[in-house]
Amino acid sequence: MSSILVLPGDGIGPEIVEQALRVLSAAEQRFDLNVELDQALVGGAAYDAEGDPLPESTLAKARAADAILFGAIGGPKWDTIERDKRPERGLLRLRSSLGLFANLRPAILFPQLADASSLKPEVVSGLDILIVRELTGGIYFGQPRGIKEENGERVGFNTYVYSESEMKRIARVAFDLAMQRGKRVCSVDKANVLEVTELWKEVVTEEAKAYPEIELSHMYVDNAAMQLVRAPKQFDVIVTGNLFGDILSDEAAMLTGSIGMLPSASLDENRKGLYEPCHGSAPDIAGQGIANPLATIMSLAMLMRYSLQRGDVADAIESAVEKVLDQGLRTADIYTEGTRKVSTGEMGAAVAEALSHG
Ligand code: IPM
Ligand code: MG
Repeated sequence: MSSILVLPGDGIGPEIVEQALRVLSAAEQRFDLNVELDQALVGGAAYDAEGDPLPESTLAKARAADAILFGAIGGPKWDTIERDKRPERGLLRLRSSLGLFANLRPAILFPQLADASSLKPEVVSGLDILIVRELTGGIYFGQPRGIKEENGERVGFNTYVYSESEMKRIARVAFDLAMQRGKRVCSVDKANVLEVTELWKEVVTEEAKAYPEIELSHMYVDNAAMQLVRAPKQFDVIVTGNLFGDILSDEAAMLTGSIGMLPSASLDENRKGLYEPCHGSAPDIAGQGIANPLATIMSLAMLMRYSLQRGDVADAIESAVEKVLDQGLRTADIYTEGTRKVSTGEMGAAVAEALSHG
């Protein structure tokens, strides 16, 4: 028996998670799969109910679970409350408290969606890149941080810091994953300006010595941002820090047609993980039934693969998604002429149905 904690969160979070749970039920019926589900509040929803975006009870359940399925958090409603109580801080605290330092963000273009990308089909067809983003360090967590008064004006400041051990462990995750795919790793830095990434580049290069088969390259982040839209297929695995990874993964997501298609896994040293779509809570479309649930459904597939060691179930979920795309079903974000526009619920139901029938 494996336990999964479900954290729907805010905005479109609950709608998309509901569809992933539908797919999970279908998986349980088809496979010998025994999962125990629990739910808890996180983000703005938790703040509204308990005055804390990550209540102690939620954190305790998260620690106890084998894996966490996460929707999305945040919204304008909570943008102006006390900084430490904002939904995003809840997510960051969750990642950090659980030691989820390795964030895997695959950007794979489904051939069915080549037309939905804003890039020319020949530039993106067959795209399969994996961004490995460090998730519990860097400028997101560095101290000191804050907004203070100085010389009669306000000054905002953050600290970009990485220890050698933090750099080493994320580099190893990237190399290990690259060994299972194209064996090429591009480390993204800003070593021409920032000392912290000068050291990053050095440490990653040293770690690579243990992986003679890996072809390691280095790229400045500004160039990487440009190369991702110019010739994205040159990349296999990209490894980078927290902030650069945040930005580049949104960019990579768009190559695949919509950020609504991009799942992610955040893993600790023992492959316990939190699984969430890369997109946010999209408060502007929440409650309208038009959000794309596929990123969350594919996050469930990653959960099966990495934390529950059920590659068979993961493969089946991913095939079901492909089948539904083959049938021409599209949510609004990936809709193109000649396909059929469906709601969040219709998309989830179709994937569950495709999964039940194998
Ligand atoms: C992401 C999101 C988060 C981040 C926000 C919601 C804190 O953008 O998961 O990429 O910046 O990490
Ligand atoms: Mg982001």
